[in-house]
Amino acid sequence: MESGVARATVWSVSTLITNIGELVTNAPDSSGDSGRPGPGAFAVIEDAALVIESGRVAWIGLAAQAPAADEVTDCEGRSVLPGFVDSHAHLVFAGERGAEFAARMAGAAYRAGGIRSTVAATRAAPDALLRANLRRLTGEMLRQGTTTLECKSGYGLTVADEQRSVRLAAEVTPEVSYLGAHVVPPEFADDPAAYVDLVCGPMLDACVPYARWVDVFCEQGAFGADQAAAVLAAGKAAGLIPRVHANQLGPGPGVQVAVEAGAASADHCTYLSDTDVDALTSSGTVATLLPGVEFSTRQPYPDARRLLDAGVTVALATDCNPGSCFTSSMPFCVALAVREMRMTTQEAVWAATAGGARALRRSDVGHLGVGARADLVLLDAPSHAYLAYRPGVPLAAAVWQAGKPVPGGRLPSSPAVETKNS
Ligand code: NIG
Ligand code: FE
Repeated sequence: MESGVARATVWSVSTLITNIGELVTNAPDSSGDSGRPGPGAFAVIEDAALVIESGRVAWIGLAAQAPAADEVTDCEGRSVLPGFVDSHAHLVFAGERGAEFAARMAGAAYRAGGIRSTVAATRAAPDALLRANLRRLTGEMLRQGTTTLECKSGYGLTVADEQRSVRLAAEVTPEVSYLGAHVVPPEFADDPAAYVDLVCGPMLDACVPYARWVDVFCEQGAFGADQAAAVLAAGKAAGLIPRVHANQLGPGPGVQVAVEAGAASADHCTYLSDTDVDALTSSGTVATLLPGVEFSTRQPYPDARRLLDAGVTVALATDCNPGSCFTSSMPFCVALAVREMRMTTQEAVWAATAGGARALRRSDVGHLGVGARADLVLLDAPSHAYLAYRPGVPLAAAVWQAGKPVPGGRLPSSPAVETKNS
């Protein structure tokens, strides 16, 4: 026996999820979707089954041809999708801004400066409060089918508070973005250049061990093109990958800055010029649209059709944060994308799963091809289209993350009236 140590037999339990009316796979084709790693195009298998082993997808195909497994879940004709990939969220914060939202609905405009009130509350909060808030929101997301999420800092804005934010975020996800350049904090109002130096220097050094990404809010009232480019360059030099809040509140240089930095994603993209669209089309930068923000700020929605028709890769995410959009619901964003941005139900579901994976440069999530992480959402509905057809209804009946059922799932015990196989 090797090195005299007795080795326990590792017994991998296999789970067959069967009688799936519609399995959305987004599986890469055999050519690897034109050579790109990660999810392929939107694709479904009807009357399907899927086998999970060791937290991964081990087999997909027709239910009639499924292999035997140790455990079986019967979906009774319902739809199964890859878990949602929410590639843009700000979850480390304290306080709330319900009154600001109410004022907006009464006619006030959204302004980036509102961020500063959350900064004050966050700085004053103990770790335990931030952690409890973070866990409440990530739990909310998971129960709605989000199995991969990105989380930003950006409400600390001191070296210690930003480091604390990325450290807490890293407790819940590997997809942590350092957003020291969210807004210039009040104590640097007279010397924003000194704040950018801090963000590019000591604050970055303190945050790098906990982060994968560097983000910047490139917008009037936040950071200009040169400042944003400097933040992204410093982050890149420290080993982080850029992503950018771009063109949210008006036309501006954000998308160009993102593309020039080789950013994984330019997020918001609400006000785009033809040059911006061209730059996105000819780059590997994903356009991440956040329609919950436009819903919650009464701004015009981004022109998703223009981006899709130009061949840009589009992702959908929540932007969950206490100011511009306080939803944790990817199904809500899918419904908005379909109704308000004229995306097809297929485009929207792809953008909320595979698109998010592309925005996070992940090849293991956003699809259910063999070898993918077994992140699944079972809808209490016969097709993915119900996410938009039945907006606001909690359709996620069960969720699996890395092959494990998420507690609290409500596997239906009898077929719904409208399931395909009833
Ligand atoms: O993505 N745009 C900058 N940051 C957030 C808003 C944060 C806030 O209002 O607190 C966003 O919309
Ligand atoms: Fe954001």
